[in-house]
Amino acid sequence: MSSSLDRKSQAWSALFSEPVDALVQRYTASVGFDKRLAPFDIQASLAHARMLASRGIIGSQDLADIERGMAQVREEIEQGRFEWKLELEDVHLNVEARLTQLAGDAGKRLHTGRSRNDQVATDIRLWLRDAVDRIQVALRALRLALVELAERHADTIMPGFTHLQVAQPVSFGHHLLAYVEMFGRDAERLADARRRINRLPLGAAALAGTSYPLDREMVARELGFEAISRNSLDAVSDRDFAIEFCAAASLIMVHVSRLSEELVLWMSQAFGFIRLPDRYCTGSSIMPQKKNPDVPELARGKSGRVIGHLSALLVLMKGQPLAYNKDNQEDKEPLFDTADTLLDTLSLFADMMAGLEVDAQAMRRSALKGHATATDLADYLVKKGLPFRDAHEAVALAVRECAASGRDLGELTLAELQRLHPAVQPDVAEVLRLEGSVASRDLPGGTAPRQVREQVARLRAELA
Ligand code: ARG
Repeated sequence: MSSSLDRKSQAWSALFSEPVDALVQRYTASVGFDKRLAPFDIQASLAHARMLASRGIIGSQDLADIERGMAQVREEIEQGRFEWKLELEDVHLNVEARLTQLAGDAGKRLHTGRSRNDQVATDIRLWLRDAVDRIQVALRALRLALVELAERHADTIMPGFTHLQVAQPVSFGHHLLAYVEMFGRDAERLADARRRINRLPLGAAALAGTSYPLDREMVARELGFEAISRNSLDAVSDRDFAIEFCAAASLIMVHVSRLSEELVLWMSQAFGFIRLPDRYCTGSSIMPQKKNPDVPELARGKSGRVIGHLSALLVLMKGQPLAYNKDNQEDKEPLFDTADTLLDTLSLFADMMAGLEVDAQAMRRSALKGHATATDLADYLVKKGLPFRDAHEAVALAVRECAASGRDLGELTLAELQRLHPAVQPDVAEVLRLEGSVASRDLPGGTAPRQVREQVARLRAELA
């Protein structure tokens, strides 16, 4: 046959009267980046071939030849011996051309009832489903590392901030568990996105379906898809699933970036709350004393790149008429890079957080500095009968007095406190202590170490 892939220098047909321009070839080829889809392309092709054989669309000898040929293609790719050809444009045509060299006419029958349009949509879904599963494992490991750190630091007290001003003392464990909540919602979002990733486009063919009596349910079952696509035009052109993934990934990176910002602050000399394991830091080529938190800084930076990929995909799709357009080839690099960046970042953070060293004394000293128990004192006065607004005002005056004499609220004497209100008793001391303050916020969701331990237990069960 004159149009056979193995004998022609370009992939499609005898229709073309001159070879494609060299720059056009490089411009339009995707094999440089989509070859990583190969394992999934082969898996999907085998499922398609088995279905074609079971429906009698190809013979059983053809199927045997395809299976044998594909086994060799797979081996060549795994061993790095496969010869990828730019002139064959993409992973699909490269694999099929090599299969045809190995399996002859059977290889040429594989594409029956199929188009690269439903093929590529299937491959990306398989690839992304696998990526999501690996990301979920890394996300879980990070959550577990944070839960374990939180458990060790349920009683470690740090200043809690609003507006980055010392607000109230909190348990460091409680602070860490805030991130566990964020990453827990992220895991839910990924699981939800996975349901819509996990639908089979094959059978949509180029755009309109096919006249061959394909058994789409059989292919879906073999490939582990939960359902088949219900509209062929949508099936070949839909990239919502990739956008949803990138949106979930962006939000994860936003959470990582917030954590990173805190780690960078906490590690600065001005805070001195933590040390990162040396293997996560780098030095300076000029300042011998420097140890820099490069990993959190880079993660903060890489969040911008992942968010950029989300924008790229949204803009990629917004002007496309139905059905498949070549624009869609541009979905892969942002998608691949998003998954790669996310997986690396989460894996690094799980290990880094597990190795975090905490200077509990530095945290405590810092919490003692910003009148962090002022709210507790106001609440104390309320319990002694003052209206809250009056109590607020009285404590504000006391803080002003402290500032004038360079002291913290906790350092005022009982006599001075009694000048605020005669009802102040010696039991006020407990209220002004960091431990008393933190322990008093003992309602569900509060920062009391008892609550933190309950959350740790719940999360441990959830993550087990
Ligand atoms: N490499 C293409 C892509 O990534 C595969 C589908 C091409 N289909 C086509 N009719 N040109 O989207």
